[in-house]
Amino acid sequence: MSQQFDVVVIGGGPGGYVAAIRASQLGFKTACIDATSNAEGKQSLGGTCLNVGCIPSKALLQSSENFHNAQHGFADHGIQVGTVKMDVAQMLKRKEEIIAKNTGGIAFLFRKNKVTPFHGTGSFKARNGDKWVLEAKLADGKTETIEATHVIVATGSSVRQLPGTTIDNKLVLDNEGALAIPEVPKRLGVVGAGVIGLEMGSVWKRLGSDVTVLEALPAFLGAADEQVAREALKFMTKETGLTIHTGVKISEIKTGKKDVKVTYAVGEGEATTATFDKLIVAIGRVPNTAGLGADAVGLKLSDRGQVEVDDDCRTNLPNVWAIGDVVRGPMLAHKASEEGVAVAERIAGQHPHVDFGVIPWVIYTNPEIAWVGKTEQQLKAEGVEYKKGQFLFSANGRALALGEAKGFVKMLADKKTDRILGVHIVGPFASELIAEAVVAMEFSASSEDIARIVHAHPSLSEALHEAALGCDGRTLHS
Ligand code: FAD
Ligand code: NAI
Repeated sequence: MSQQFDVVVIGGGPGGYVAAIRASQLGFKTACIDATSNAEGKQSLGGTCLNVGCIPSKALLQSSENFHNAQHGFADHGIQVGTVKMDVAQMLKRKEEIIAKNTGGIAFLFRKNKVTPFHGTGSFKARNGDKWVLEAKLADGKTETIEATHVIVATGSSVRQLPGTTIDNKLVLDNEGALAIPEVPKRLGVVGAGVIGLEMGSVWKRLGSDVTVLEALPAFLGAADEQVAREALKFMTKETGLTIHTGVKISEIKTGKKDVKVTYAVGEGEATTATFDKLIVAIGRVPNTAGLGADAVGLKLSDRGQVEVDDDCRTNLPNVWAIGDVVRGPMLAHKASEEGVAVAERIAGQHPHVDFGVIPWVIYTNPEIAWVGKTEQQLKAEGVEYKKGQFLFSANGRALALGEAKGFVKMLADKKTDRILGVHIVGPFASELIAEAVVAMEFSASSEDIARIVHAHPSLSEALHEAALGCDGRTLHS
C-alpha cells in the first residue's frame, strides 16, 4: 500500500525543509524525504547548509577568529592572556553540537507542523492518474511507496570533482572534510578562491596553517565589485596571511601516503610543485540529480545537469517543482528557502514573488564581504549612468571602538532617478549591515531616502548612511 500525500518534498535542506513547513502551514498533507544521516545513523535534516555548509563553517570561522583575536587582538585592549593554545578537538565538538541543535530544531519544526519525514533516498517511479508515484529507499533497508499530487525537488548540490584527483576526505578534502580536519595541517592547499576556499582557507590559516589558494581565473572574486575584490585581496593576503595565486593552471596532482603534490603554473610562468599535508577542493558545486529517477518520468535536465525550471520553479512536468541548488541561480541557502516558500504558496493558488535581483551575497571572511544589486563593472557594461557614495570604516566611531576599522561601504544609485542600484560592503559585520540595503532596494528606495533616515550613533550603520549622503556629494564625516 502506498502512502498518500498532497505534497512530497525530496530533499530536506533549506530549500526543502522550508517548502515542507510552508506547505503544511497552508493545509497540505506533506512529507519530506531526506537522505542525510548523522554519525549515529539517525536522520539529520537541514541538508548541506546545516550539516556540512553554512552553519558549521560559520562555527569554525568564529572559533578561529576568537583564537586569532586572543593571540593578536587582545593586547591592544590591555588584555594579557599569556600563551594561547588551540584545542582543535574541542572546536570540532562545539561545531558538532551546533549542528545537532540546528538539525534537531528542524525535526522539532516538522513535528510541530505535522510534516512526515522519511529518512532515505527518494526517486520518481511513475505517473498514476493525477498522482506521482515515488519510492523512498529508507535508511533502515525498507522501501516505501509514496503517492503525491505535487512533488518539490530540492536535492541540492555536491562538490565539483577536480580532474586528476579523487576526494578521499583524508588528504584531498571537499567541504565535509575541510570542516573536520582533526589537527591543524602545516601546509594546506586550496583549489579555488571562491566562497568556500576563502572561508575555509581563513579558518585554517588563523589556526596556524600555511595556506596556499590556487585559483584558475585571472581575476580574484570575479562576481564581486572590483573595488571590493581588490580591498579584500589586500587584507586577505597582508593581514590574514593567505597566499593567493590567480590565473593558475594545475597540470598534475599526486596523492602520496601522507601528502599531496600539486604541480601548477601561474599565468605564463614556469611550472612549480608544491607539497601539501591536505588539499581542499572547492571549485564549485554540481546539482544532485543522480538516482532521482528523472529519466523514468521524463523530468527535463539542462546541459549543466540542473533540473530545468521557469521563473516560478515549475519543471516540464505537471505539478513537479524544483528549487534551490538543483536549479539555476545562485547556490545560496536563503535563495533556496525563498523559492521553497514561493512554491508552496503557488501550489496553494497564491501569487508570491521572489526578487532575484535583490538577493544578498555574504562572504564571512575577515573582513566580511557583502553585496546586493549591481556592481560598478556591471553598470558600466550595461551603459547605466550612476553616481556613487563611499564611506571608509576608518572614519566610523563604532568601527574604531571595535578595533575593526578596515574596509568601506559603497552605494551606487541611478544618476537620474537616484534609485539605489547596488550596495557593496567590505568590513566589519557586513553580513548584518547589508540587510538595510536589501530592504531599501526591495522598496525601490533612493539614496536620498537612506540619507534622510536617522541612524543610531555610534553604529556601523552610520557608514551606510554616509555612503548614501555621498551619492549627493555631501558626506558629513569625510
Ligand atoms: P541542500 O542543502 O544541498 O540539501 C539537499 C538535501 O537533499 C541533502 O540533505 C541531500 O542529502 C538530500 N538529497 C539529495 N538527493 C536526495 C534524494 N534523491 N532523496 C532524498 N534526499 C536527497 N549558503 C549561504 O547562503 N550562506 C552560507 O554561509 C553558506 N555557506 C556554505 C558553506 C559551505 C561549506 C557550503 C558547501 C555551502 C554553503 N552555502 C551557503 C550554500 C548552501 O549550503 C546551499 O546553497 C544550500 O544548502 C542549498 O539548499 P538546498 O535545499 O537546495 O540543498
Ligand atoms: P565558487 O563558485 O564560489 O568558487 C569556485 C572557484 O573555483 C571559482 O573562483 C573558480 O574560478 C575556481 N575554479 C574552478 N575550477 C578550477 C580549477 N580547476 N582550478 C582552480 N580553480 C578553479 O564555488 P565554491 O567555493 O566551491 O562554493 C560553492 C557555492 O557554495 C558558492 O558558489 C556559493 O554559492 C555557496 N557558498 C556560499 C557561502 C556564503 O554564502 N557565504 C559560503 C560557501 C559556499
